[in-house]
Amino acid sequence: MAAARASTLTFLVFLVLLHIAEKIIKLMAGEFLLMTSPGGEGGGGIGINYGRMASNLPPPVIVARFLDQNTVFDRVKLFDSDPATLDAFAGTGLAVNLAVSNDLIPALTNLSFAQRWVRDTLIPHAARTYIARILVGNEVFSTANRSLIAGLVPAMQNLHTALAGASLQSVVKVSTPHSMGILSVSNPPSAGRFREGYDVAVVKPLLSFLRATGAPFMVNAYPFFGFAPDTLDYALFRPNGAGVVDPNTGLAYSSMLDAQLDAVFSAMKQLGFGDVEIVVSETGWPSRGEAWEMGVDAEKAREYNANVVRHVTSGAGTPLMPDRKFEAFIFSLFNEDLKPGRTSERNFGLFMAGMTPVYDIGILRTGNVGGGSTELQLPPPAAQSQSGVGVMSWCLPKPNTDERSLQVNIDFACGQGLDCRPIQGGGSCFIPATVEAHAAFAMNHAGGYGGNPTTVGASDVSGGVQTSANWHVIVLFFLSSSSSNTSHVAESIVMERHTTGFL
Ligand SMILES: *[C@@H]1O[C@H](CO)[C@@H](O)[C@H](O)[C@H]1NC(C)=O
Ligand SMILES: *[C@@H]1O[C@H](CO)[C@@H](O)[C@H](O)[C@H]1NC(C)=O
Ligand SMILES: *[C@@H]1O[C@H](CO)[C@@H](O)[C@H](O)[C@H]1NC(C)=O
Repeated sequence: MAAARASTLTFLVFLVLLHIAEKIIKLMAGEFLLMTSPGGEGGGGIGINYGRMASNLPPPVIVARFLDQNTVFDRVKLFDSDPATLDAFAGTGLAVNLAVSNDLIPALTNLSFAQRWVRDTLIPHAARTYIARILVGNEVFSTANRSLIAGLVPAMQNLHTALAGASLQSVVKVSTPHSMGILSVSNPPSAGRFREGYDVAVVKPLLSFLRATGAPFMVNAYPFFGFAPDTLDYALFRPNGAGVVDPNTGLAYSSMLDAQLDAVFSAMKQLGFGDVEIVVSETGWPSRGEAWEMGVDAEKAREYNANVVRHVTSGAGTPLMPDRKFEAFIFSLFNEDLKPGRTSERNFGLFMAGMTPVYDIGILRTGNVGGGSTELQLPPPAAQSQSGVGVMSWCLPKPNTDERSLQVNIDFACGQGLDCRPIQGGGSCFIPATVEAHAAFAMNHAGGYGGNPTTVGASDVSGGVQTSANWHVIVLFFLSSSSSNTSHVAESIVMERHTTGFL
């Protein structure tokens, strides 16, 4: 059984490799721009928001390796502190910004709760995952919830104290992302002001905390939500004449994002905190929207996000902060079909759930940094089994596959000798108890069995892997040589998927 599975796996790896080679050739033919330098020398840092309100997302371990090895992103922002996701970033070069939900803020105003949170949620991962920041809540001021707003700085302070207790305060910083709604005036940029009432009562103590602890002020800045028909070019970083001039300073702005950042800077400076760093915690542009939403299409989304990457990695500052380099997190990695609201809310992603690019903004890079090559480095197929450098696939039922055919697949795989106890009642992979989840378990454990049960079976190596009507391979990925035991990795991914309920 083990030997049969190992050879099936090797064979699967080989087939998937061919499939990848084919895909890459198609990508190259499509003039995909592959950057060779991550981040850009001397520029700011470019990160990605990794939201997960989507069905059929690849497991975090696949996403983490993809971001680390195949993209220019060197930092990632999560919307939670899910242990499996934090684990997935272990050993990668990515700086992780994890989030604490708004709901936890009241509890975190209690120091011993904050200490317990750091001990239980952060410390188990801190040795292997580079956790750079804890982001407390998201756009807390926009909630207009008094207990959250009043609890924000005390909660941040307690987390910092708890980190200091674990000697982690110089590695892990504590901040919180705001919406642009925190400003009452943002135009012209030099007139930027925080909302009255919040400015002295909460923003000032917050800025004092950030300055004292060396953490940045974080803002979600979306020209997409701020443009009018006559400022579309300005919002998209397109050439727009002499730019938009701030009458107070005489400075010309060529992009709305710069103007938004300078408005935040002016508001901070007015309170005496012009020295605190500013980080763009979210920025992006949707590729699809409702018919009545202006300026929404894949080309404009591509243009905006590519220009953000170019601007940030160029290291150029803004008119009021000419010498600063910025860190910006694109929103978002994936289209998220489970988000509520208008269509555009679900279509900010650079990738679809199966990791197919929605459009290309030049964030893919070679595996061979500095080599000057513009091609992805494919390990030669012959070296596969010896070197352990491999490729992984992840199989999922196609959407809308009827449960009866999935059940037929489960029965077939289990009938072929696969140990199906984990997906039976009380088994370690019984939850989530859906036919889809159980079928994915059966399929992935059977080592690539994905065909019509009457024509191809798990151990039928000569029959090959068929992605039939029921199945598709959604993830194709290179493993580094450090993950030499592919069967082990494949196994742990399947377990993870089932324990974290990704299906
Ligand atoms: C404020 O937020 C807390 C925590 O999420 C919640 O329990 C409470 O009901 C909210 N209060 C109001 C008035 O919405
Ligand atoms: C503070 O948190 C600790 C640990 O979670 C808990 O035992 C204690 O009851 C909390 N105190 C208050 C006043 O909520
Ligand atoms: C690979 O991992 C599997 C499953 O954990 C284990 O049984 C096997 O011994 C490992 N092989 C090597 C060469 O380490």
